[in-house]
Amino acid sequence: MVDLKDLISKMTLEEKASLLSGKDIWETKTIARLNIPTVVLSDGPHGVRRQVGAGDHLGLNASLPATCFPTAATIANSWDPSVAEQIGACIGEEALVQGVGVVLGPGMNMKRSPLCGRNFEYYSEDPYLCGKMALGFVKGVQSNGVSACPKHYAVNSQELRRMSSDSILDERTLREIYLTAFEMVVKEAKPRSLMTSYNKVNGIYASEHEKLLQDILMDEWGFDGFVVTDWGGSNNHVESVRAGNHLEMPTTGGDSDRELVDAVKSGKLEEELLNQRVEEFLKVLYEIKPAFERNKSNDLKIEDHHKAAQKAAAESIVLLKNEDSILPLSSACKVAVIGDFAKTPRYQGAGSSIVNCTKLDSTLDVLKGFDLDVVGFEAGYERNGKMDDRMQQAAVELAQKAEVVLFYMGLDEISETEGLDRTHMQIPSNQVALLSRLSKVNKNIVVILSAGSAIEMPWISNCKAVLHGYLGGQAGAGAMLQVITGEVNPSGKLAETLPIKYEDTPTYQYFPGKEYHAEYREGLFIGYRYYDTANISVQFPFGYGLSYTTFEYSNLKVSQNQATFCIKNTGIRDGAEVVQLYIHAKDSDVYRPFKELKGFTKVFLKAGEEKELTITLDDKAFRYYNTGNSQWEVEEGEYEILIGASSKEIRLKETIFIKGSKAKLWYEKDSMKPYYTGQIQTISDREFECLLGRQIPNRRWNEQGLLDVNDALCQMYYAKSGLARLAYKILHTLKVRSEKKGVPNLNVLFIYNMPFRGIAKMTNGVITMDMANEMVRMVNGQFWSGLKGFIKGYFRNKKAQKSMK
Ligand code: BGC
Repeated sequence: MVDLKDLISKMTLEEKASLLSGKDIWETKTIARLNIPTVVLSDGPHGVRRQVGAGDHLGLNASLPATCFPTAATIANSWDPSVAEQIGACIGEEALVQGVGVVLGPGMNMKRSPLCGRNFEYYSEDPYLCGKMALGFVKGVQSNGVSACPKHYAVNSQELRRMSSDSILDERTLREIYLTAFEMVVKEAKPRSLMTSYNKVNGIYASEHEKLLQDILMDEWGFDGFVVTDWGGSNNHVESVRAGNHLEMPTTGGDSDRELVDAVKSGKLEEELLNQRVEEFLKVLYEIKPAFERNKSNDLKIEDHHKAAQKAAAESIVLLKNEDSILPLSSACKVAVIGDFAKTPRYQGAGSSIVNCTKLDSTLDVLKGFDLDVVGFEAGYERNGKMDDRMQQAAVELAQKAEVVLFYMGLDEISETEGLDRTHMQIPSNQVALLSRLSKVNKNIVVILSAGSAIEMPWISNCKAVLHGYLGGQAGAGAMLQVITGEVNPSGKLAETLPIKYEDTPTYQYFPGKEYHAEYREGLFIGYRYYDTANISVQFPFGYGLSYTTFEYSNLKVSQNQATFCIKNTGIRDGAEVVQLYIHAKDSDVYRPFKELKGFTKVFLKAGEEKELTITLDDKAFRYYNTGNSQWEVEEGEYEILIGASSKEIRLKETIFIKGSKAKLWYEKDSMKPYYTGQIQTISDREFECLLGRQIPNRRWNEQGLLDVNDALCQMYYAKSGLARLAYKILHTLKVRSEKKGVPNLNVLFIYNMPFRGIAKMTNGVITMDMANEMVRMVNGQFWSGLKGFIKGYFRNKKAQKSMK
């Protein structure tokens, strides 16, 4: 092992500083004279996105072919961390072959609202489930010797102005909902790196958040890898290095390095601390290096990984409805295949996670491998929502000829993309209209859904069965047919609630944050924590999913550390069941969601087979975070241990007394009533202040129209300068135009939501932070002096870059 301290002692200040920011968009810098290696970082969570030509962080330019696995939202429905681990292992293997040392994933943000544009990239609305799945993924990736990079730390659940929004939330919600999954992953899977999020958390950029990084991540959880900013997400490099963020990506052409050097020279940053960050960073580089030295293979194992992707998709399919047991279809059943998605699958989301897949199965391609009598195919609708009567008519005629209609429907590409939150939860109305017409001519309709996030289903009575495949990756089509024909018995369960309508969701009034803030007024009450506590009916509850067989639960015994029970497959088919353990605190003094997931297991049982199962109650089972003394506490009292087939369908329960502390409440109970009843839909400023334990910081945009370097470009709408307002208009028109086309223009979206400082962080060093500040002066009406400063900055930068070389 290299003696890092000795190595660092041989470096100049400039060399040390240079290691903490990128060489280009994907690689870190080397120091040739000291043999310091470089490392390549690439997305991502669902397959490797290695760009060797023009690089970008939005998935716009080509990348090398790699296996496209089902997205995280899909895999979470398997409720099987070993599935995530398998995928992680394949991705890690492909990374190694493609020279990638750091895989930028898994995405671990909480599904606070069904409208977050990146929900398809995230696991769940529940931190425990998310944590377990993510730690499987991390273990899998790292089993190859490369690094996984869990992201985006932390509290990043909206895309709107994601680089400048400020997530305002109370300490308890932060700990219990938004940090728990990261805590689990860091402690149990030991990721070698981690990515900070773009947003601020309670007023401080995540990449500069000493409490989140140094105090919690490193000191409390023992993280010993390196932390990287999200791409272009750095604000003040010196502050982020101080706080515990090591690497800034992508390159800023030396601007950030100079900031570090100047800070050390002027005494603003201790050289000792810089040395420490460099050491922490290099430690990982030298840990990863041997994996590449050992690896002799350049084989992507395309076929094997394609099969693994199909298996993972099959394990994650959720059967939501199965009237008259229409599924599985009997052999040689006469089917009509309808829906554009059967021809052109919707299998992944747009943005940085996009994978250039090695191959892609469509339903029509793989159909012949299954024992079905296909009477024909009709696309039936345009996926961008345009009504087409002729297409509908052709589909209706086809439906009349079949015993069963397989109707493929779902969300199109624009609906789910990085950089853009959704505005509603509906699927395009032309698909819904077609379903209604089909149901009039054929009663046996099986809907097959492709959508990476929760949707409304007011149309559900028009079909007999619904299979939800989420976004199944490159081999998802075959997996779905395996389930349709009964070759695979579905065993997925929802990792998020499907509400009846958007208005029912807990953050309906709060999402997305309107001006500077995203205010987390709902506190702990996201997902089923809300629906259960506030008694809101839902379409399908968290943890729900049917099987072609049935299971009987019995004989629950609980102790402080575990719950043991029996489960029997009482049907005639083999199958797997996801069993969930929730706890409910009886007579709790502290406000709590009605129930919370604290354990789960997935068990495969042959028809008639019975097994005894044990679910461990770990350190997270009874704890709550006490903001008063900044500690995890266990409230003494009685708890119900609930064993369920879903969050709603509790099959067994037992009460247990748990010894605990009698810590004082840190708030006046009377002022927190909504949090006791879960009625958090319209929390007033006063109530939110009680939750926060402090005043709500000023959230309005500057009313004088003065912008600063952290304001988003779309805020030029308010700018003093007419020229800036014109620039806004142009940007806005481009955005609207691209949305109308149905193809998201990620570049435009990114720029629209990007703060001015992003111009400095995303232009390879052509524009410096000083120049970005001058641009802001121009926007604020000081055009000529700003321009002068900008030009001066340009030449200063040129000179500095030259002298650095
Ligand atoms: C995304 C990250 C991604 C990075 C690099 C950013 O826009 O937020 O998740 O890893 O780009 O592509």
